[in-house]
Amino acid sequence: MATLNKLFVTLSILSLFACSTNAQLFPNFYGRTCPSLQTIVRREMTKAINNEARIGASILRLFFHDCFVNGCDGSILLDDTSTFTGEKNAGPNKNSARGFEVIDAIKTSVEAACSATVSCADILALATRDGIALLGGPSWIVPLGRRDARTASQSAANTQIPSPASDLSTLTKMFQNKGLTLRDLTVLSGAHTIGQAECQFFRNRIYNETNIDTNFATLRKANCPLSGGDTNLAPLDSVSPVTFDNNYYRDLVANKGLLNSDQALFNGVGSPVSLVRAYSINGFAFRRDFAFAMVKMSRISPLTGTNGEIRKNCRLVN
Ligand code: HEM
Repeated sequence: MATLNKLFVTLSILSLFACSTNAQLFPNFYGRTCPSLQTIVRREMTKAINNEARIGASILRLFFHDCFVNGCDGSILLDDTSTFTGEKNAGPNKNSARGFEVIDAIKTSVEAACSATVSCADILALATRDGIALLGGPSWIVPLGRRDARTASQSAANTQIPSPASDLSTLTKMFQNKGLTLRDLTVLSGAHTIGQAECQFFRNRIYNETNIDTNFATLRKANCPLSGGDTNLAPLDSVSPVTFDNNYYRDLVANKGLLNSDQALFNGVGSPVSLVRAYSINGFAFRRDFAFAMVKMSRISPLTGTNGEIRKNCRLVN
């Protein structure tokens, strides 16, 4: 059964490549120039996850924040310098985006095997896929050939990454602006089946909102006081935050979504209630659709051909 499922996902994703408009990206881009790439990324991600399981979630979030700001071009990886303002200190990333050291470690190993060949943007795409698979999630074939940005935009990071306080119509618009549908929003939000969030991002929900399970709110208040404790963590999935499963959707159905933006997917008129219910009982459908949607997100406005560059160090333009 598992093999059949895998075959189905693989075939479906191959057909997605065939219909895609973004034909410059393709899975075997480094087939001749860096044949050991995928083995290296997998090995480094295995090490990183054995060291801390949450890092798979953190890297997935980095990829989302990279793709939503001028495309999947590695711009989030650039450090601020005295003459350059990047995205790391934008509101949604500051003291919150993590996993940069893991990308550095992968880049160092990849450079040792095939120097000046593989972009940081592609490394992030592959690391994300492997992190999810290693936490029990689906796998997929990653289209490759992205190049790295020579610029970044703090202001775009501040305005184009959704806030956890967003309502459904804002979330839908922000995803639409990136070519993603309400369905994509619903399935990609399932990423919150892994990882953690800080108290400051869910305080208002547990103290002031009414569409929340009372016992769940009480439980979360214990480690998220009305004032103080802003950075105290709680799992985005109440049951299995280091396993990539469909419990996120079971939480939504039980009014146990941690962020306002999570529960908005299962709250009243216009919300994708039937899709959330379907994923809450059908883990296979979620895995399949998530893999598709990740490939779609990974194709947002890449730099290809002679645009951008292959960075030597993911933190700095060459
Ligand atoms: C729909 C709009 C979304 C909003 C408003 C949102 C917001 C947030 C917030 C506030 C956090 C907690 C950050 C912290 O406390 O440091 C978080 C964590 C996370 N987000 Fe989202 N997110 C959204 C969609 C997504 C998508 C589409 C993905 C990936 C496809 C994603 C992946 C993650 C992951 C994996 C974490 C946990 C990170 C960790 O543990 O380090 N999110 N998100």
